[in-house]
Amino acid sequence: MCGIFGYVGSGDICKTLYQGLKSLEYRGYDSAGVAVIGNSISFVKDAGTVDQVLSDLKLPARKAGIAHTRWATHGRPNQLNSHPHFDEKKKVAVTHNGIIENYRKLKEELQKRGHVFRSQTDTEVIPHLIDENLHLGEFEAFKKAVSMLKGSYAIAAIIDGSERVYFARRFSPLVLGVNGDYFLASDVVAFLRWTKKAVFIEDGEIGYIDEMGFHIEKDGVKVNRKPTTIQWNFEEAAKDGYDHFMLKEIFEQPKVIKQTLSSERFKGLATHLSTLDKLVVTSAGTSSYAGLAFKYISQLPIDTITASEFPALYRGGEILAISQSGETADTMTAIRYAKSLGAQVDALVNVVGSTLTRIADKTIYTHAGPEIGVAATKTFTSQLAALYALNSYMRGTEIPKIDVKPGLALNKDLKKLAMDISKSKSMFYLGRGQNYVTALEGALKLKEIAYIHAEAYQGGEMKHGPLALIEEGVPVVVINPQDSYRKKMLGNIEEVKSRGAFVIGFGEEGDDEMRALSNVFYGLPKTEVSPITYTVPLQLLAYHTAVVLGRNPDKPRNLAKSVTVE
Ligand code: M6R
Repeated sequence: MCGIFGYVGSGDICKTLYQGLKSLEYRGYDSAGVAVIGNSISFVKDAGTVDQVLSDLKLPARKAGIAHTRWATHGRPNQLNSHPHFDEKKKVAVTHNGIIENYRKLKEELQKRGHVFRSQTDTEVIPHLIDENLHLGEFEAFKKAVSMLKGSYAIAAIIDGSERVYFARRFSPLVLGVNGDYFLASDVVAFLRWTKKAVFIEDGEIGYIDEMGFHIEKDGVKVNRKPTTIQWNFEEAAKDGYDHFMLKEIFEQPKVIKQTLSSERFKGLATHLSTLDKLVVTSAGTSSYAGLAFKYISQLPIDTITASEFPALYRGGEILAISQSGETADTMTAIRYAKSLGAQVDALVNVVGSTLTRIADKTIYTHAGPEIGVAATKTFTSQLAALYALNSYMRGTEIPKIDVKPGLALNKDLKKLAMDISKSKSMFYLGRGQNYVTALEGALKLKEIAYIHAEAYQGGEMKHGPLALIEEGVPVVVINPQDSYRKKMLGNIEEVKSRGAFVIGFGEEGDDEMRALSNVFYGLPKTEVSPITYTVPLQLLAYHTAVVLGRNPDKPRNLAKSVTVE
């Protein structure tokens, strides 16, 4: 979703703001803008991509500036609604992520006092509030304005006459980068090319960066915090010769899963979970499928609750929250609610230092490295690998062998298949048991990046309704390894086939019955971790279909990498 970037330093301000913002593009956005301090504040902003709006950026800047990618919530993507926003005299420029819940009331009051608004955004109240309080001094004015806001925010502001970038955080991520120059960003990927030294800002903190360093305070008390070193590399966040980040990230999976399993850090949590009577897993999107997989594979009674439905369904118990970004608003709200009722929260997270890791009582990391493609790929299989490992430690058994290379080896064949299915209006994905999860994930990938309608069903459920939709040529992807469900799935394949479905079968090498029943068949070796093994070719199928259709798989329409609104 929206991305914030700020910089104070001796480098080329415009170039640095542009590069920082480029690195935040993956979060998803529809408008871009920057403001810098020179003799006065100058700015460029509009709807469009960072390149459309900001390439060739030449603004008279001295040492400080802010930049923003906006994902529209209040008001359409257009020039006026793009960030930064200003007071009438353009003394103050503000970028903001999140939602100011009391903005209507604040706006009405400001209008009564003569302030004129230009945009439909909630953000625009902030520069007006700062401006109104400038007689208190810059930082005091910023603090006063922030104290009047309700809702969620990460804010970056500049004020004409100084060389500072002010910031504040509540429920929306912000992190500083430090290397003699100072950076402010929604996530570390934005400044990785310059520094790996990061200072994470916590909820309720407010401060500024300037030439002298950084200042953070909470409730009027100075916070002393040392930078931590981020293990990610800038190169990991680059395409490395691949056409898209998504393809690179799919092919990184053998290495990533090794990293995930590289230490025994799941042992402690496994020992603890083994003592519980019940566990509640909460998460969203692809991460919720990882949670569902855990329910299938674990002997521990597990409730899975979609994060956005959490308060309606939660009846107590320890929580395992799963999130790649560690920032998903639905998941954060769910665990804050559980914590308010006294629950212990454990977390499985990819992004180091993210909000979830701060709220959770215990965190284990997937160590999948930065994932730039909006579609979750390597982070999903690394979540699954972590959950299989956790389960093995809980049972006292060996961690099963995980090999994703056979799925990757199908790349060329799946590219060909993508040409055929790209003409489809609708598709089905069927699986049983833990491979219902594989079906869900395969269908989500196709919807998300190829914009083809796809539904996942448990094989046995088709005859209870969806079978009515099967007609000549409808593609049905079937995931059917040789497990205890195989026979019943063969029956389910017969059911769709006899109604004209075009069956795309994924099963075990040498499974002649599956081969014979399928219109096209892809064999994979025997595996104990079929949701991992079989998800990989489905990622590739979705990727190639998106490319055939001319979609950009890294930046699917309407979607954002880190979903920070409810
Ligand atoms: O960062 P999270 O794992 O909490 O994100 C949850 C979902 O938004 C995410 O998994 C989404 O469904 C994926 N982009 C789908 O590929």
